[in-house]
Amino acid sequence: MRMKDLFLTHVGQTSDMPLMMEVERAEGIYFYSPDGKRYTDLISGVTVCNTGHANQEVIDAVCEQARKYMHIMVYGEVIESPQVQYAVALARELPEQLSTVYFVNSGSEAVEGALKLAKRWTGRSELISCQNAYHGSTHGALSMMGGEHFREAFRPLLPDVRRIRYNSMEDLKYITSRTAAVLVEPIQGEGGVRVPSKEGILALRKRCTEQGALLIYDEVQCAFGRTGTLWGWQQVGVVPDIMCLAKALGGGMPLGAFVSSAEIMDCLKRNPVLGHITTFGGHPVCCAAGLASFEYLLRNKLHLAAEAKGARFEERLRGLEGLKEIRRAGLLLALDWGSAEKCNQVVKKLTDAGMMTESYLFAPESMRISPALTITEEEIDSVCDEFISILAQ
Ligand SMILES: Cc1ncc(COP(=O)(O)O)c(C=O)c1O
Repeated sequence: MRMKDLFLTHVGQTSDMPLMMEVERAEGIYFYSPDGKRYTDLISGVTVCNTGHANQEVIDAVCEQARKYMHIMVYGEVIESPQVQYAVALARELPEQLSTVYFVNSGSEAVEGALKLAKRWTGRSELISCQNAYHGSTHGALSMMGGEHFREAFRPLLPDVRRIRYNSMEDLKYITSRTAAVLVEPIQGEGGVRVPSKEGILALRKRCTEQGALLIYDEVQCAFGRTGTLWGWQQVGVVPDIMCLAKALGGGMPLGAFVSSAEIMDCLKRNPVLGHITTFGGHPVCCAAGLASFEYLLRNKLHLAAEAKGARFEERLRGLEGLKEIRRAGLLLALDWGSAEKCNQVVKKLTDAGMMTESYLFAPESMRISPALTITEEEIDSVCDEFISILAQ
């Protein structure tokens, strides 16, 4: 049987329309199929590979750590230096309120941990999220998801969850003394790159503080320089009580984390003891990879260049025939084609021609562009030339 047939028969599928390119190797903003075809990765594995595919420093860190040791013991029991060093490096770039890192394996798990932590710390049960939010696929994260369409088939989900409109001043009244936490993306990713108003974020922070509810920022998609600052919350300077990280956190390896103050985080360790546990969370190889990627990003100041690189894309692609608007935060772009049908046609045309992109989950009329932050100006120009010429055909 051919690899494609084996994939469809033996690997669990997520839809009837997988992209189906076969990957042999990847480098920078490109990946290659066994027949030598080159694909331009316009989405970096959905904002995971911010420091580029096959980053040599990340590869070296993985090999070095794998040779020393891999799994020794479940999370939280023994001292593994890649984990400690990465937590310290993250804390160095974060304020005091966000100096304790609890490592898990994925974004969904980071959200699960954050929700449990908020319930445990406040002693409250109500959780609030936003319409069109994506927070992951596990039961708790799914309960917080914005779209009813994705939730309804899996009920019963978490009770006591309320949804408010993203960036709505009016809906802040639903945050009350019953609320344990409000979970929100600093910039909505799957909603199609929605940037909230500064006043909206300040008012949200104020309301949470007044009501004693924790503000949880889901930074899974927009952290690590994607939006032009290291963390999404730096766009406005509003610091959350808990921050969820994943995707680019692992530099291409599976890693997630929820981050808070030492005081808040401490409540997970008693009443009951082992309030949150994970076997593989903070795996030493993943932490070594993540740390190498993080150090590479900081040293090369990739976060500081993301805004100019995103603006270059926007300038080059603005005015394309049929394009309604471009929404953008740094190097996270949504090209809005006005309808899901038109967007699907564009995505298919580009994909067939060797450019990988996709539409956003809650904005099917909008197409994702979020390449590695390592993309050079020359690469942006040549990608845009190719993009324009494919669509002109
Ligand atoms: C904002 C946000 N939160 C959470 C998740 C879930 O992360 P994971 O797929 O690693 O569970 C995602 C994944 O796309 C995301 O974009």
